[in-house]
Amino acid sequence: MSEATIRYGDREVKLPVIKGSETESGVDISRLAAETGLFTLDRGFGNTAESESSVSFIDGEAGILRYRGYPIEQLAQQATFLEVAYLLLYGELPNRHELDAFTGSVTRHTLLREDMKHLFEAFPHNAHPMQILASATSALATYYPDALDPRDPKSVEVSCRRLLAKMPTMIAWLYKYRVHQPYIYPHNDLDYPSNFLYMVHSLPTEEYIPDPVVVAALNVLLILHADHGQNCSATAVKLVGSGEANIFSSVAAGVLALSGPRHGGANQEVLEMLETMEAAGGDVSYFIERAKDRSDPFRLMGFGHRIYKNFDPRAQIIKRAAEDVLAKLGIDDPLLNIAFELERVALSDDYFIERRLYPNVDFYSGIIYRALGFPTDMFTVLFALGRLPGWLAQWKEGAEDPHTRIFRPQQVYVGPTARDFVPISQRP
Ligand code: ACO
Repeated sequence: MSEATIRYGDREVKLPVIKGSETESGVDISRLAAETGLFTLDRGFGNTAESESSVSFIDGEAGILRYRGYPIEQLAQQATFLEVAYLLLYGELPNRHELDAFTGSVTRHTLLREDMKHLFEAFPHNAHPMQILASATSALATYYPDALDPRDPKSVEVSCRRLLAKMPTMIAWLYKYRVHQPYIYPHNDLDYPSNFLYMVHSLPTEEYIPDPVVVAALNVLLILHADHGQNCSATAVKLVGSGEANIFSSVAAGVLALSGPRHGGANQEVLEMLETMEAAGGDVSYFIERAKDRSDPFRLMGFGHRIYKNFDPRAQIIKRAAEDVLAKLGIDDPLLNIAFELERVALSDDYFIERRLYPNVDFYSGIIYRALGFPTDMFTVLFALGRLPGWLAQWKEGAEDPHTRIFRPQQVYVGPTARDFVPISQRP
């Protein structure tokens, strides 16, 4: 086993270096505080692994993403979303029998309790879908009190399947409520993405039969979003889970973490940014200049990534898919051309080159969601639906790891030192 040595004052400590199965190595600093009195300060956890994980591997320099060893490109091209969900949850691709059993069991849980309708109806019609989804996900726990014990594998198993099955129905129903349309019940003869599209777009008066091009595009998008290592929302899920909160509460925390514009909320913001550019006549240079101005908080949404420093492999697949889907559906979307132009200009600009800022997963996804008939403020809930298997797999991994401890980071306290209480009558 290799070691790293840390010297501080007259003390020296040797720390073990843990090697991953790919290129990564990490110094195990768990003895650091006890042996030196020091702990580490790592803003945004850019240098810190909280745990070992076998779910997905990312090489940010080489633009590689693999789920359980399988390249994302192969999965996006050849797998179904539920097949990928099985892979993430159980570590191996299912055989035909295993996939049929898994699909059958997920499908049997697609209905929501009837009284959940009242929950959607408690929100204003213009409530943001991510807020409603987080509340509904958390509320699910109240309907299944018999299966909440995070230490009971059977409860965890059925809860994972309930979440996978019910999230499409919750998203479709919150959408229906927002657009003042009747709820459409799941149609269990349909596959996962088709059933979701059916519940979103059907009316009691007019059945929507999903176009295979649309189903295939949604399947690819869900797969591409299914996991991404220790990102902000997965870490939120694991953090809440580390306190032994139930899996519904943990996933609700993930939904809320995903909603921020620096994370999943960026997909909505990208499209709004492209629409603003279109309204301004399609000239992207003004926005590029604003993004480069450090006194302006504006950022080019859909650009940059903490890990990917050459390209985001998901963005490359989605870019090709966007072109393909729009062509097949016969849609000429001016936003696609603006996005191409923005990418071209940004990638030849020194500011973006020096900082290694490239389009990320959110840059082109909104253009496809728009082509599939989703309003802009629904984009982030679609991301959440895709990311769900990764959250569940990582939550399970944490719950099953005997080394898991409650997440409880240190801090470097920089506030006032001890002082005596001053009665209010004596304060200036
Ligand atoms: N536009 C303009 N400048 C940017 C952008 C951007 N989109 N992203 C980063 N920068 C600049 C920063 O201002 C900073 O410049 P400086 O060194 O002169 O101060 C430098 O690049 C490094 O940026 P950080 O914020 O330190 O990078 P970090 O790794 O912390 O953040 C993040 C990554 C949050 C994704 C960032 O690139 C960003 O805000 N992008 C836009 C939002 C976005 O698209 N989010 C989705 C990410 S993918 C996902 O979560 C699903």
